[in-house]
Amino acid sequence: MSTIVNSWNEWDPLKHVIVGRADDCHIPPEEPALDAKVPEDSDMRGQWGRRPQDSIDRANELLDNFASMLASRGIEVDRPTPIDFSLPAITPDFQTESQFGCMPPRDVLLTVGSEILEATMSYRCRWFEYLCYRPLMQKYWNEDPNFRHEAAPKPRLTDSDYHPDYLSEKIGVEKRLQWAAEKFFVTTEEEPLFDAADVLRFGKDLVVQHGFTTNLKGIEWIRRHFPDHRVHAVNFPGDPYPIHIDATFTPLRPGLILNNPQRRLPEEQRRMFNDNGWEIVDAAQPAHNAPPALCYSSVWLSMNVLVLDPKTVCVEKSEVYQAEQMDKLGMNVIEVELRDAYAFGGGLHCCTADVYREGGLEDYFPKLAG
Ligand code: ARG
Repeated sequence: MSTIVNSWNEWDPLKHVIVGRADDCHIPPEEPALDAKVPEDSDMRGQWGRRPQDSIDRANELLDNFASMLASRGIEVDRPTPIDFSLPAITPDFQTESQFGCMPPRDVLLTVGSEILEATMSYRCRWFEYLCYRPLMQKYWNEDPNFRHEAAPKPRLTDSDYHPDYLSEKIGVEKRLQWAAEKFFVTTEEEPLFDAADVLRFGKDLVVQHGFTTNLKGIEWIRRHFPDHRVHAVNFPGDPYPIHIDATFTPLRPGLILNNPQRRLPEEQRRMFNDNGWEIVDAAQPAHNAPPALCYSSVWLSMNVLVLDPKTVCVEKSEVYQAEQMDKLGMNVIEVELRDAYAFGGGLHCCTADVYREGGLEDYFPKLAG
C-alpha cells in the first residue's frame, strides 16, 4: 500500500492527475441556476440536448493528446467513467431532463492533502456528476490507506436556492456588474453550496470565490470541514458571471499570481497577499475576441493554465499573449491545443483535477494570525 493522494497547492510538481472526457456531453436544459449563468448574448440560450458527435470526437482527441503529453512527462493520468448523461436527474426535490458531462473534473473534486472532497455542486444537471469519478475514488481508497474520500452534503436545490430576480434573460450587463459588486448573486443562502473550482489551494490557506456557484454558507462549510486551514472569501466585482475562480485568479508559484485585469481583486482583499510578499500581476490579454461556439466560458480561459511545477506551465496553443507573458515571468511554456474542447466545460485547469503533487503542507502567509 502506498500514498496515492497528496496535493496541497496549485504549483508543486505534478505527478498524478485526472483528465476529463467529452463523451456524451449534453447542453443541459433550462434550470434556475443555469439560466442566470448562461451569458445573455450566448448562442446557447434556448438550446439543449446532446452535443454534435463530431464536436465530441474533436474534444476527446484534444483531451487524449493532452493526457498523452502529460504521461510522456512521467505524470500518471487517470480518466473518469462517463455515466449516461441523457438520463434525467431526479431527486425528491427536483427534476431536470438531462445531465451535463465529465469534461471538467476540477469543478467537482477538491484535493486537499490526502483528501479528495466531492463538492455539493450548484446546478441540478451536475448533481450526479461525482458518479463518474467513483471508480477512481474506489481504487485510490483501496490502494492508499491514508486517502480520505469525502463528500459534502448533497444540496436539495429546490427553487429556494435561487434568487428569482436573476431568472430574467434581460438583466443587462450594467445591472449584473452592480449586483456582483453588491455581492448579490443568483444563489441564495438557503443551504451550503460550492463547486470545487471556486477554491484555490495555497497550502494552509484556501482562497474561495463567493459568487454564482459558491455561497457564503458553502464557504463556511469548507471552513468547518478544514479546521486546520485558514479559509478566505474573495470577490471579483468586474465579473458579471462569477462562476469558478480559475479564469480570474491564477497562482503560478509561491509569491506570484495572475489576476484577470477586468476582474481585479478589490484593494481591501489584497492585504493578505501584499503583507506576505505576494505579487499580483495583470494577466495578458486573451488572443481571441469571442469564445468558441456553444461555450459557457469567456475568452479568459486564456489564463486557465495548468502549472506542472513552479517553473513549467501548460498554456493553450493559440493563447500567444499569455504564453509570451509566462515566458517573461520566467516560466517554461508547454503549448497544448485545447480550444475546441472549451465548450465542454473549460480550459487546461478545468479539465484536470490533482491527485498527487510533491511537497507537503506549508504556510505561505506567515504574517496572518491563526
Ligand atoms: N467563469 C469563467 C470565465 O468564463 C470560466 C471558468 C471555468 N472554470 C472551470 N473550472 N470550469 O471566465
